[in-house]
Amino acid sequence: MNDLIVSVDGPSGSGKERIAKYISNKYNLYHLDSGLLYRRLTYLILKKKINFNNKNELFFFLNSLTSLSLKKHKTLRKEVISKRTSIIATIPIVREFINNQQKLIVKKILKSKKGCVIDGRDIGSKVFKNAKIKLFIKVKTEIRAKRRHKQLIEQGEKSIYSKIFKDINLRDKNDKNRVVSPLVVPKKAIIIDNSYSFKNTIFQINKAFKKL
Ligand code: C5P
Repeated sequence: MNDLIVSVDGPSGSGKERIAKYISNKYNLYHLDSGLLYRRLTYLILKKKINFNNKNELFFFLNSLTSLSLKKHKTLRKEVISKRTSIIATIPIVREFINNQQKLIVKKILKSKKGCVIDGRDIGSKVFKNAKIKLFIKVKTEIRAKRRHKQLIEQGEKSIYSKIFKDINLRDKNDKNRVVSPLVVPKKAIIIDNSYSFKNTIFQINKAFKKL
């Protein structure tokens, strides 16, 4: 069994990463966080002062990149990057570039691992439509905003709950309404409600994996 792909999609702050990490550990799968690629690219675009509204400039910049680092860094999690990323992620050539990156990474990993768990917004609906298990994570906006607010405070960032709530709604709007690969519940996806305890979430995940 050399092609076990698990997709974990859902809106910002729904806990996809924690869920994907859990699945990765429990089922010995490589974890690819696709949001990290979007964040890294956004960081580079801002750092190199690329005018991403200029299609030619962006096209040449993307062509100059070979691969994107998957290294985590707390800068990539800052609110300023989060906001910009959801705008840059609406650009079709950006999505095409990141989709190719993901496919290359997964192809390489599958040579040595039995499978991958990938979290994002369009994994089960677009990038890996043939994923064996598709999960869609659901959490009420208020709960996501509360969790994000707590996380920012713990990271030492300034945070105002009402602003975070507004930002999450705005990001959801960008992700759901973009023309290319909007955030949707993929066909045949199993909905996981991550509004309660993680134990409860794990119970739902393990039930989904019984279908394997
Ligand atoms: O998952 P994370 O919050 O790190 O993703 C950051 C941003 O990248 C999201 O708000 C979304 O706009 C974009 N993204 C995307 N498609 C993915 C993963 C992330 O559009 N597959």
